Amino acid sequence: TSPSDLHIHTDTLLAYSTTTGRIVALVPSTPPSAVPSTLSSLDIVPTEPPEGTTTITYLAPTQFLIPGLIDTHNHAPQWSMRGLGQGMHILDWLSSITFPAEARFSDARHARRTYTSLIRGMLRQGVTTASYYSSLHGPATRILADLCLEHGQRALVGKCNMDRGSPEYYIDDSAPESIAVTKECISHIRSIDPSGSLIRPILTPRFAISCTPELLTSLGALAQADPSLPIQTHFNEAEQEKSATLSLFPEFTDEVSLYRSFNLLTPRTILAHCTIMTDDETARLRELDCGVAHCPTANMTVGGGFMAAPVRDFLERGMKVGLGTDSGGGYSSSMLDAMRHALVASFAREALYGDRAKGLTLDEVFWMATLGGAKVVGLGEEVGNFEVGKQFDAVVVDMSDERGGVNTPLEDADLVRVRLEKFIMTGDDRNIAEVFVKGRSVHRL
Ligand code: GUN
Ligand code: FE
Repeated sequence: TSPSDLHIHTDTLLAYSTTTGRIVALVPSTPPSAVPSTLSSLDIVPTEPPEGTTTITYLAPTQFLIPGLIDTHNHAPQWSMRGLGQGMHILDWLSSITFPAEARFSDARHARRTYTSLIRGMLRQGVTTASYYSSLHGPATRILADLCLEHGQRALVGKCNMDRGSPEYYIDDSAPESIAVTKECISHIRSIDPSGSLIRPILTPRFAISCTPELLTSLGALAQADPSLPIQTHFNEAEQEKSATLSLFPEFTDEVSLYRSFNLLTPRTILAHCTIMTDDETARLRELDCGVAHCPTANMTVGGGFMAAPVRDFLERGMKVGLGTDSGGGYSSSMLDAMRHALVASFAREALYGDRAKGLTLDEVFWMATLGGAKVVGLGEEVGNFEVGKQFDAVVVDMSDERGGVNTPLEDADLVRVRLEKFIMTGDDRNIAEVFVKGRSVHRL
């Protein structure tokens, strides 16, 4: 329920509607012997009358449910080049590894094949929601949204805007063309999922280095004209990026002032990285209520230097913070790795800066991977934890012996906690038995 409040419900009956996908009841103290055969005989008031038949499923003793994991920052077209170019500085990595790989998504068949593999791969790892940057191509972006809907992954999908600073073979023709394609993608996404209950569009200026002032101005105007549109971009990621940004925009002394002047910093903005922050910039982001996508894997391996965002500071200020794999700058597409690396990065910061940068706890990184991330992507009221009225987005974790778990005696009261810790620190997709999004089973081992 908060970064430091992790509730484990044991012997709990959770009921959800397969029609709406919403959780309709959570009944504690219901061991298997006390589970009634139909929902209607339960002494509860569901938010809606149960329809049709009731199916009751018991988890195995070694299994438990966690809220679906939320990847707040993922580059869909980098799925197949993930992990290449480790240790490179950001602009060199973009031009030598990333742009050639993303340019291939002009081919719709390549997009369909790769995005199918991506979505299956993410669902298998328990990622029920992802905020995706697509490539700059309209058709590939629409394919990504179509496939998320088809496979049942909750997603924010954005056509990547980039009309300068990249090679001729991978660049938007002009700012107006970039905006026109963006609008087409937004309309398409809204036509395939009119209620936005699964797939939503998101404005995606790659970063200021790849956008002309004209393009940034138009995107800011779009966001202002349509307050339901979220925005995502890369922000204060690395020294090379920061100095290139400020030399392109000499009228600004920092990135908060820059992006703010284009009306791109809103409560619906997701800022990836935020590693190099001054106190003043952090305070202004707090004021603007922007969300942070902390991407520790990428920050420690690609971009330049061993960077780590001041997450303790963000949490102490009450900012919205989630975790991102930043796949493929991040070599791993696993949110479990993102949690582990967030811990490691925070311990490194504590070693460097002492008490004012206290390391994160397991509970805190788990919150960031779930409810914190939900808040960052604007879905804090919909998903992120198990509450009556929220969508049933969940992962069935299995920590049996055969899957590398722990089988100490079941009467041990802390066994679930032990298994959760083991899962976060040592688990992988072999421990993910089933995944649900909106009450629909979207992956089964
Ligand atoms: N900055 C601009 N584009 C990118 C990208 O694709 N990955 C990362 N990590 N940083 C970026
Ligand atoms: Fe990124």
